[in-house]
Amino acid sequence: MPSVLFQTLATIAIFLSSLSEAAPLDGLTKRADKVIGLDFDYVVGDVQNTTELTKRGDGYDAELINKKSFYLTYLELGSDKQKVGVDIDTGSSDLWVPNSSLYGRPVAQYGTYDSLTSKTSRNTHQPFRIVYGDLSSTLGTYVTDDVTFGGVDLKDFQFAQTFQSSTNVGILGIGLESLEAPVIYGYGNQYTNLPFALKEAGYIDSVKYSLYLNSPSASTGSLLFGGKDLAKIDGELVTLPHSGEDARLDVTLNSITVSGKVIDVTAPVNLDSGTTLTYLSNSVYNAFVKALGGNGQKFAQLPIVDCQQTGNLTYNFDGISIDVPLADIVQPIGFNRCVAQFMGGGQNILGDTFLRYAYLVYDLETKEISMAKAKFTTKSDVVAI
Ligand SMILES: *[C@@H]1O[C@H](CO)[C@@H](O)[C@H](O)[C@H]1NC(C)=O
Ligand SMILES: *[C@@H]1O[C@H](CO)[C@@H](O)[C@H](O)[C@H]1NC(C)=O
Ligand SMILES: *[C@@H]1O[C@H](CO)[C@@H](O)[C@H](O)[C@H]1NC(C)=O
Repeated sequence: MPSVLFQTLATIAIFLSSLSEAAPLDGLTKRADKVIGLDFDYVVGDVQNTTELTKRGDGYDAELINKKSFYLTYLELGSDKQKVGVDIDTGSSDLWVPNSSLYGRPVAQYGTYDSLTSKTSRNTHQPFRIVYGDLSSTLGTYVTDDVTFGGVDLKDFQFAQTFQSSTNVGILGIGLESLEAPVIYGYGNQYTNLPFALKEAGYIDSVKYSLYLNSPSASTGSLLFGGKDLAKIDGELVTLPHSGEDARLDVTLNSITVSGKVIDVTAPVNLDSGTTLTYLSNSVYNAFVKALGGNGQKFAQLPIVDCQQTGNLTYNFDGISIDVPLADIVQPIGFNRCVAQFMGGGQNILGDTFLRYAYLVYDLETKEISMAKAKFTTKSDVVAI
């Protein structure tokens, strides 16, 4: 997939709150200065029709086929603090929200933004248009206005209000500024996006954030701007250098291991909260499917594989491997048949099925990602980074 076509849409419904008011972190919550915490809700929705988003229960079931995961959070926009839910996306870099002309459409189910009722809204008259990796697209214009969440109050922050969209929910892109739609498509200038605005305003000291889901089957997770939670890191964080295209924060995946077979990958991959599944090259996909006893048949675009799978799908990076239980990847579709949540096509994206087993720290200044196995615990020991 080309450019911001680069990313697949993610969707995370997140409920923001600062650590100070973070009820979900019961147990030993330790506060740190210069850390902004965002807790989010994990929700899944139909790819075609997300009017019926449901909270994920334990484990996968057949109903989740063709569903997309969303990390949803709520922002307050404008002088009148309009509450709008957005999907946190590490694979794109613009914040956009549906405006009130989209009221009543599926994309507006988490709220809309009305520039007329906010006294602080200013239209920049700069266009915004973006096409995501799933070919969904959005059109609008940029405004500047106040954005508040979890104790943060950003004045005159630039985001897009959109009047046309084929996606399901507004997007909070938190990737590199070089991946902003006007830069990628060459129709406008780079601007300060949310992670960098938090540093400029002095809320955090470095443009880093860590991403964590509270358990393999969690319906909640958290994003920490400027911090990491030591209690949730199993072993050491290993820092991986940037690889691949400059504009995108990718790291090299060396190989995957499944059923004792090591399958070479050696390619840059994007760790994208906006994507649900794993997407690798067709040759990796074919070797993976073969190792799981598949014969090339598909259901709902996913490969049919043997239902009896034990052990892990292991993602091997330089100095760190992340295990994902195959039981989590393989799901029944009835009549004793199963599919694996794994796609070919060569986009090289690791989405939610991978992310939930890793503790990830994204550094947008050095363009590195640090990675460890996630330790699932309600304990918390947050430090600034
Ligand atoms: C989406 O789901 C809603 C609620 O079930 C239904 O009324 C509507 O017809 C669906 N839309 C499409 C395009 O399938
Ligand atoms: C919605 O956004 C478009 C594009 O920015 C703008 O022209 C239109 O006036 C907006 N509509 C409302 C109701 O805010
Ligand atoms: C799968 O990975 C987990 C977590 O790293 C590990 O504890 C377990 O032993 C692995 N299972 C197998 C069969 O290797």
